[in-house]
Amino acid sequence: MNNPAAFPEDLFQKLEEFQQTHLLTWWSELDPSQQDELVAQIRQINFAQIQRLYSPGSSADSEESPAQKAERATRPATVVRLTDRQSDSSESTQAIAAGKECLSAGKVGAILVAGGQGSRLGFPHPKGMYPVGPVRQTSLFQILVEQLLARAKQAGQPISYFIMTSDATHDDTVAYFQQNQNFGLAAENLFFFKQGTMPAVDAQTGKILLESKHRIAVSPDGHGGMLAALKNSGMFDEMRKQGIDTLYYHQVDNPTAIVCDPEFLGYHLKRNAEVSVKVVSKRSADEKMGVVCDVDQKTQIIEYSDLPTHIAEQTDEQGQLLHWAGSTAIHVFNRDFLEQIADNDDQFPFHRANKKVPHLDASGSQVTPETPNAIKFERFIFDVLPVADTVLVYEIDREREFNPLKNAEGQDSPATVQAALMRIASEWLSACGVEVPADCPVEISPLLALDAEELKSRVPSDLTISGPLYLGE
Ligand code: UTP
Repeated sequence: MNNPAAFPEDLFQKLEEFQQTHLLTWWSELDPSQQDELVAQIRQINFAQIQRLYSPGSSADSEESPAQKAERATRPATVVRLTDRQSDSSESTQAIAAGKECLSAGKVGAILVAGGQGSRLGFPHPKGMYPVGPVRQTSLFQILVEQLLARAKQAGQPISYFIMTSDATHDDTVAYFQQNQNFGLAAENLFFFKQGTMPAVDAQTGKILLESKHRIAVSPDGHGGMLAALKNSGMFDEMRKQGIDTLYYHQVDNPTAIVCDPEFLGYHLKRNAEVSVKVVSKRSADEKMGVVCDVDQKTQIIEYSDLPTHIAEQTDEQGQLLHWAGSTAIHVFNRDFLEQIADNDDQFPFHRANKKVPHLDASGSQVTPETPNAIKFERFIFDVLPVADTVLVYEIDREREFNPLKNAEGQDSPATVQAALMRIASEWLSACGVEVPADCPVEISPLLALDAEELKSRVPSDLTISGPLYLGE
């Protein structure tokens, strides 16, 4: 192909060098604004990187695979078990005090990753807008922001919320927050930053796919895209300016995560960890969760899809799963540790995933594949773990803290998340001496109480509940 009129010569040479000139197949049919859009997209692509990631025998392939590493996996060295915390609360008490002190000193920021496409849920808006509250259909975003506000009120110090969006979620998310006056969060404490995208390539040929004649098929670059996004958007600078050195990280799909949990923050600080991770005991060997383990004395997370069955099924002398620690993707990170990794971005790996990606075929017809046809490239935030000198693994009560919304039906679906929110609210009310009739929807705003203890001072013990009830501020 010759360089078509008005297409930049330098870019054309790039396309030729990397055999991607098919991206210009319909150039002459495009209007000027579509041409500009296509040029801008092509300019952003790092073709050498895409080639390296796609090509068999690339560095990603020649390294030892996660499945091979898993053969040497042992239990993580530094674990705080839930039963130990429950049987001896002295360290917990000290940790809570340390966490609260850090929050009150304004040293903690919260990061929420909300850039995913939420394809399994199939909701036509960003997942954070999903109306999950059992009585008022409160959205995931609202529940999480209210938790943050309540925690800030407890601490007597605002907490800044850094929310990662993507091309797939940014505009809707920002508009949604605006329409709802940020759910009460002051504008100076709310920061949106957008992650990058990666093009999808044809699995057979390595050719970058077109979504339409002037648009490349791209998707968000994974939650690990957060590091580059924090750096490029100036968020690390903002954090430094605010004196934030400890970051609570969580995902948009779990409304029962304890936002900026003082005890977890305190353990992280007291154990001098660079990264901490909350884990739960896996329900079964084949549960689809990343497993936290040590390989060559480095604590890391192995994706369930990379964990060979015979390793997942290994048990100890007591018959318990050897690799019991499932990651909840709730972390605490030291800011300077993340900054160092973001500064050496090249070392932070991409993972390849075979996916179904709708695209144009060579004749210009739209194809909606039935089976995976393409490779997407994503970074995972948990790949920072093995870089850390000290990782703290901290077990939590899954019923209380880990109820993610992933699927439209079945496990981890709106039904299970709503049931969890109702169960937790009922348990708190019951601790206050208030009985909730079976299956009666109750919802407690985090602005009213963050736990059963706080609720005791907020509701009268002679409260009677006979129908659906929302307890707000
Ligand atoms: P998941 O891996 O569950 O992906 O994301 P998802 O996009 O929500 O859902 P599926 O897999 O398409 O069904 C876990 C968390 O990471 C965020 C999501 O928004 C969610 O909070 N995430 C994921 C990003 O912020 N960016 C990404 O590129 C991917």
